[in-house]
Amino acid sequence: MSVHVSKPHDAGPLHVQGTARYVDDIPTPANALHLAFGISTIARGKITSIELDAVRASEGVIAVLTAEDLPHDNDVSPSAHDEPLLAKGAVHYLGQPIFLVIATSHLAARQAARRCELTYAEETPLLSIDDALAADSRFEDGPRIYSKGDAETALEAAEHRLKNTLEIGGQEHFYLEGHAALAIPQEGGDMIVHASSQHPTEIQHKVAEALGRPMNAVRVEVRRMGGGFGGKESQGNALCVACAVAAQMTGRPCKMRYDRDDDMIITGKRHEFRITYDVGFDADGRISGLIFDQFARCGWAQDLSLPVADRAMLHADNAYNLTDVRITSHRLKTNTQSNTAFRGFGGPQGMVGIERVMDEIAHALGKDPLEVRQANFYAPASAAKKDTTPYGMEVTDFILHPMIDRLVETSDYHARRKRALAWNDRNPVLKRGIALTPVKFGISFTLTHLNQAGALVHVYQDGSIHLNHGGTEMGQGLFTKVAQVAAHAFGVPLEAVKITATDTGKVPNTSATAASSGSDLNGMAVKAACDEIKGRISEFLAGQYQTNPARVRFEDGQVFVAGDVMPFSKAVDLAYTHRVSLSATGFYATPQISWDRIRGQGRPFFYFAYGAAVTEVVIDTLTGENRILRADILHDCGKSLNPDLDIGQIEGGYVQGAGWLTMEELVWNDKGALMTHAPSTYKIPCASDAPEVFNVALWDGENASETIYRSKAVGEPPLMLGISAWLALSDAVASCGDAYPDLDAPATPERIAMACARLRADV
Ligand code: MTE
Ligand code: MOS
Repeated sequence: MSVHVSKPHDAGPLHVQGTARYVDDIPTPANALHLAFGISTIARGKITSIELDAVRASEGVIAVLTAEDLPHDNDVSPSAHDEPLLAKGAVHYLGQPIFLVIATSHLAARQAARRCELTYAEETPLLSIDDALAADSRFEDGPRIYSKGDAETALEAAEHRLKNTLEIGGQEHFYLEGHAALAIPQEGGDMIVHASSQHPTEIQHKVAEALGRPMNAVRVEVRRMGGGFGGKESQGNALCVACAVAAQMTGRPCKMRYDRDDDMIITGKRHEFRITYDVGFDADGRISGLIFDQFARCGWAQDLSLPVADRAMLHADNAYNLTDVRITSHRLKTNTQSNTAFRGFGGPQGMVGIERVMDEIAHALGKDPLEVRQANFYAPASAAKKDTTPYGMEVTDFILHPMIDRLVETSDYHARRKRALAWNDRNPVLKRGIALTPVKFGISFTLTHLNQAGALVHVYQDGSIHLNHGGTEMGQGLFTKVAQVAAHAFGVPLEAVKITATDTGKVPNTSATAASSGSDLNGMAVKAACDEIKGRISEFLAGQYQTNPARVRFEDGQVFVAGDVMPFSKAVDLAYTHRVSLSATGFYATPQISWDRIRGQGRPFFYFAYGAAVTEVVIDTLTGENRILRADILHDCGKSLNPDLDIGQIEGGYVQGAGWLTMEELVWNDKGALMTHAPSTYKIPCASDAPEVFNVALWDGENASETIYRSKAVGEPPLMLGISAWLALSDAVASCGDAYPDLDAPATPERIAMACARLRADV
């Protein structure tokens, strides 16, 4: 049995020894060149002159390119063709690449890039959500609206009603390995690109376009990333295209990596959101009508902002049955970095909105927020009548009722909540808070055609297996899980399976490893390829032994046939000498999904992944200093392929989500310069910020939908468990007075201290 068991990450030993190879570790030929971008120093305006003589004269510089020097219309956008590699006349954010330095070393390129004299005709940049709204600066003609029932009438008839606004900050991905690329020119103008990318096919596509060659002239390889978190779905295009173009021009290998500050200044982040709400509810806290307005700060180019904003709308319900609801989404164009995918892809922002609503309703009614949440839950999977989401999808697999019951019990929620309140009565300065929040996250790409994957499996004469598929490894453990699937199929030990780098020459036309669906999609494709080869071996052996192919079994490294047994390698060798093909491709397309993103109707998701977390915090009400004392999580991975790896994803996701909402703060100055562009000013959680007591358990169930061995996707959903940390802080602040604490995110110590002061002044 190779699935449903904990196996260590295949590259674990390499990671801890420092021998895992990333792009920057690939030995480069002696004649390799190094690149750096010269970037805009203003947020918006026309370039009036670019003085490059000093750059060209700088030591080690081979060439300097501006937009005019590029051989083709070099666009690096993944969507709307609105993102030139190098600025063409106008600049749209502070940090935008304007020219490209090609030099003999990384340092020489960076130093030269600073020597440029740029002059501009400056224009007033649109930096904030308010700026963009005032100028009506947006993507798409107007806001997108998804609705169900009649929210307005329901609100008018509601027993209670409240309105409020919430600001939610963005988030820097802070993958440990920054962006990097290496292009090596081949004969006849072909190109090999080593990328740190979640989307090798997109790199291949953009590089081919930039070189004016068909996609078959470009091969992209990704061995692994040192973290991607969505930040490497599209934002690696610029480096790869720059390297390929420079390599084509010079005939020499070209490499580029962003230093941390450049990485943070140039690349997009999680979308900052403002959410306004108008909610009507009854005395039990049950919501009768709800209007959400979501404002997303997208930055200067479209990138993936439309699907991100769509997914925020699709998670505005989270776990709750909303009968009369209207969700309006504004996709605002600003002169800031082009925001992009980030773990949850908009889902977290949507969910934060409704969780805040639940919390505020409970506060208004003087109820335990958990009671209000439970009163609004979707009907359980067991109910005869199913509820539908605001976008018209039936919720058939809702398992949060029993999950919450279990978590309440294992975390001792009710007693601890009472104890925290009593503790707060005795302590004037330090206050405790506790919150339980659920997660329901839709699994599938909303762009339906992306839900496909391919695999390539070779079995060699000696019985060893070479495995390749379209997914990329970024630390999440995808390669290990998919290798488990292959080992399980052939009944061989995991060590018999060689996991190889993602390669557009082996498996073509792949989707990004994203939307948490890496193992769902690639696992199924790999299984299909393995089943194909197994089928051929079975057929052959059945012929030899004059039995039925269905009676050939692959187990424990052996093959059993008609009372005989032989090692897997022997069966393979026999098949080989009898000229049986031992190589196959596999393919998978997710069934049962369809989605109309304009009307906001359909079944965008194959299934939902569920989870819930209880977080307890303590705050210092005078300084805002705070700590997570304990977190209890119950998460649904279906029938887990690898429980240890899944728990790793849950722990990491929770901490990353809590970091986003409680400590990571992006600050731009009034000129549009990102002031928090290094770990010195941008605080991500470290090991000591993890909860002192951290209990993570897996829900013992299986996916109701037919996924790979009935497992569920786990990459993104746990990030949203971190919402409980933010609401626990809010709960602690609430004990300072009677008013509802309007705690925006991130709830930094500063915001907490100010909220406490506000509440105290109110009393
Ligand atoms: N885990 C690690 N260690 N590093 C990462 O970069 N990315 C997350 C999640 N978990 C990430 C991670 C994101 S944004 C996604 S979409 C999924 O992993 C992608 O991988 P999967 O589809 O194989 O779960
Ligand atoms: Mo993940 S945001 O879908 O790369």
